[in-house]
Amino acid sequence: MNKRKILITSALPYANGSIHLGHLVEYVQTDIWVRFQKMQGHEVYYVCADDTHGTPIMLRAEKEGITPEALIERVHGEHLRDFSGFHVEFDNYYTTHSPETRQYSEEIYRKLQSAGLIVVRAIEQLYDPIKHMFLPDRFIKGECPKCGAKDQYGDNCEACGAAYTPTDLRNPYSAVSGAAPVKKTTEHFFFKLSDPRCVDFLREWTTSGTLQPEAANKMHEWLGAPGENKLADWDISRDAPYFGFEIPDVPGKYFYVWLDAPVGYIGSFKNLCDRRDIDFDNFWKTGTATELYHFIGKDILYFHALFWPAMLHYADYRTPTRVFAHGFLTVNGEKMSKSRGTFITAGSYLDKGLDPEWLRYYYATKLNGTMEDVDLNLEDFLMRVNSDLVGKYINIASRCAGFITRHFDGRLCDRICGPNGNSYLPLNDAWVDGCALIKKLQDAAAQIAGLYEKREYLKAAKAIMGLADEANQYVNDMRPWELVKQEEEASKTRLHEVCTIALNLFRLLTLYLKPVLPRLANNVETFLDIPPLQWRDAETLLLGHGIRPYKHLMTRIEQKQIDAMIEANKQAPAPTADAHSPARHAEAQQHLGATLGATISIDDFSKVDLRVAKIVNAEHVQGADKLLKLTLDIGSEQRTVFAGIKSAYDPEQLRGRLTVMVANLAPRKMKFGVSEGMVLAAGDGDGPYLLAPDAGARPGMKIK
Ligand code: 2FM
Ligand code: ZN
Repeated sequence: MNKRKILITSALPYANGSIHLGHLVEYVQTDIWVRFQKMQGHEVYYVCADDTHGTPIMLRAEKEGITPEALIERVHGEHLRDFSGFHVEFDNYYTTHSPETRQYSEEIYRKLQSAGLIVVRAIEQLYDPIKHMFLPDRFIKGECPKCGAKDQYGDNCEACGAAYTPTDLRNPYSAVSGAAPVKKTTEHFFFKLSDPRCVDFLREWTTSGTLQPEAANKMHEWLGAPGENKLADWDISRDAPYFGFEIPDVPGKYFYVWLDAPVGYIGSFKNLCDRRDIDFDNFWKTGTATELYHFIGKDILYFHALFWPAMLHYADYRTPTRVFAHGFLTVNGEKMSKSRGTFITAGSYLDKGLDPEWLRYYYATKLNGTMEDVDLNLEDFLMRVNSDLVGKYINIASRCAGFITRHFDGRLCDRICGPNGNSYLPLNDAWVDGCALIKKLQDAAAQIAGLYEKREYLKAAKAIMGLADEANQYVNDMRPWELVKQEEEASKTRLHEVCTIALNLFRLLTLYLKPVLPRLANNVETFLDIPPLQWRDAETLLLGHGIRPYKHLMTRIEQKQIDAMIEANKQAPAPTADAHSPARHAEAQQHLGATLGATISIDDFSKVDLRVAKIVNAEHVQGADKLLKLTLDIGSEQRTVFAGIKSAYDPEQLRGRLTVMVANLAPRKMKFGVSEGMVLAAGDGDGPYLLAPDAGARPGMKIK
């Protein structure tokens, strides 16, 4: 086997908020991949850390009357407790407020400086004259310049969606002290991303297979076409007071938190290397054959696919092998919400006694390696887990194990399959050849491994549950509970064989589910009295072996547990702004745009014939950067529409979906053919997001 050396990271959570189920979409999906790679026998390290710097953390500590250091230490403990509660197993969970991260941040900065990529410029910023500090956009509030809504943030209006800069706000005030901010000039340090060398490098790097196709398209949009330089220089400094690392030789100026945050990946790994015998350079110097993967949310692609590789490249470090971006979590089809109790913290889930592996499994059944959002539908969650894990998988062992303990002294048969691979015992009409089924499960190892490798966990779970169905069918057909009642010796022998086969099927299913259900798999290993399962164990069988008495492995989810968790989250204090607040990262959101349009009459609106349309086919258009060719069924006829949604969708995902189209738009002749209508999609720089009707709508239905 080719033993790979792999370093894997998840994004570093901010040290001022609790871990919630939205975060866990990422950590669970990374952890599954890490565990899968470790089961393959590769050399794998999974590192992460708390992202500890910046104004919000400084102010939060001040509000609590403690030092930022005390705050980040406390939160570190809370985060670790939550992650281990969900069996997310880091090789190192560190902090960006560390000597290692400081050292590498300074080194990278100096190298960028020597490469002529740091410039200093005077800029004008809003300043709080009472707190004596410059205010980040999120800490300036006022009236929206478009709709007049009060108490809006400095970057966008939550009432009308308008995007603007803080200086556009009417009657602005500091959210920290309430004072009216004043404009003040200050010198900032910029990373010259607009330098043609950086642009050329990023154009090459972002299209070299390091990103998912949808992410690469997004980067292409952000970079602009060759010759059209859309990248702005990146402001990497902040003025005191600031909680972070002071820039070398520039007292009073600090690295912006996003400069040292990804360096935290390096810092955490270095800290691990110093404690274990790992060659640091082998993972971070250029030209190495080791692999580096970052799992991140799609909202921080900008940092990981542009700023970060450019920083690494010009500081002579290796760049990531791949960046895997995922979508956001919705709960019951909507954004997580405090008032609905769906802003669910990891702690509340565990405190209410829900099994973390239920969620790990459910997330696995929702993940397909793309940037699509993941929906946690709580009704579906209960049904899927109860039906797949308890009803199918566990059921196999719970129906057979007792017979082995009671009638065969806890010992499995010495042999079940003859030399030709068939059942060792003679078959007649009543006996099904379980050996063929065992062989089928063993042969599935490579296919399932391929799906995990591609992060197609949904497909892997489906394949495994398909096999669990067959294993259950085998037990149903062989009826061990009837065999046990028969007196003849042959039936006893058959009972022994059937239960041995069923437990071997169960062992193989456990092996395949182990990256997702590590705790359960450990309990199965204890029950079967075997060492930790590795992927290569799929080639062997468990025979002539003593097992321990079966103990219950997993309970069903009950609705009342979910209700109690929702209720607890309604009562909890308001969460800190994060991935689910619209303007978390100003830089990543700079394309926000929509302001409300002029009023129209109902007659104007009714001129537009909107219909539910089924996408019967979707395909790429040769030579088109942005378009997909859709064939839409609107009941009475089919239409061809060219839609500018290639950056966000793969054709395969679209086939069979319902959406909404303008059916009476005059046909437009385009370079690639005639477009006979338009599909509706939302977008503001993020997106596009295709509209979809609720279940029950049929192609051709009119939208009124
Ligand atoms: O978006 C966030 O939550 C950041 N704290 C992620 C940082 S990831 C890495 F770059 F450090
Ligand atoms: Zn507004």
